[in-house]
Amino acid sequence: MSRPINIAVFFSGKGSNFESILNAIRDNRLKAKVTLAISNNPEAGGLEVARANDIPGVVMERGHYSSGEEFGSAMLARLQENQVDIIALAGYLRKIPPQVTRAYPQRIVNIHPALLPKFGGKGMYGHFVHEAVIQAGEKESGATVHYVDEIYDNGDIIRQEKLTILPGETAESLSARVLEIEHRLYPEVLQQLVSQIEV
Ligand code: GRF
Repeated sequence: MSRPINIAVFFSGKGSNFESILNAIRDNRLKAKVTLAISNNPEAGGLEVARANDIPGVVMERGHYSSGEEFGSAMLARLQENQVDIIALAGYLRKIPPQVTRAYPQRIVNIHPALLPKFGGKGMYGHFVHEAVIQAGEKESGATVHYVDEIYDNGDIIRQEKLTILPGETAESLSARVLEIEHRLYPEVLQQLVSQIEV
C-alpha cells in the first residue's frame, strides 16, 4: 500500500494558513499529512500550532550556517528525512535555497494575498500588499496560489480567486476578506496537487 502524501509547511508568522491546512486534513477535504513545519522565526505563532498538533517544528535560519550551500543542504536533508513530497509556503518571508527548489520542481507552492503578477515581489508581504492595492485604486484584489521557483512570487499561477474592493475599504478590512478566501482556497489547491502525485 502506498503511504500518504506528506506536506511540509513553511511560515514566518502567525500560521493561520497552516491551521487551515490542518483543519482541511481533519475534515478529510485534504488527503495528506503534515510531517514537518519549518520557520525562520523562533517567535512564529505557527510553531505553537505545530506543537499543539504534534508536528515536528524546526527553526532554520540562514544565519546559523556558514554558507548558503550548507543551509540549503541542511534544509533538504530535513525534508528528505521526513519524506516530504510537497512544500506549502504559508507566510514564509525567505527565499527557498536552490538545492531545495531543484529537488522539488512543481512541488513547492505559495499563497499570496493579491492578484499576481501585480503586487508581488520582494517587500510585498502582509499589510504592505493591501496598502499598495488600496493606494493604487484597484477595483479587485484576491488570493493567488502559485508554484515557487528561485524568484519571489514568480512561478506559474495555479489558481486565483478574486473579490471586489468595497467603498471605504481599508488595508485591514481587505486583509481580513482576502484571508478568508486564502483559508478555503489553499487546502483546495493542495488537494488538487496531492491527487496528481503518486508515491
Ligand atoms: C497570508 O496573507 C499569505 O497570503 C501571505 O502571508 C500571510 C500569512 O498569514 N503569504 P498566516 O501566517 O497564514 O496567518
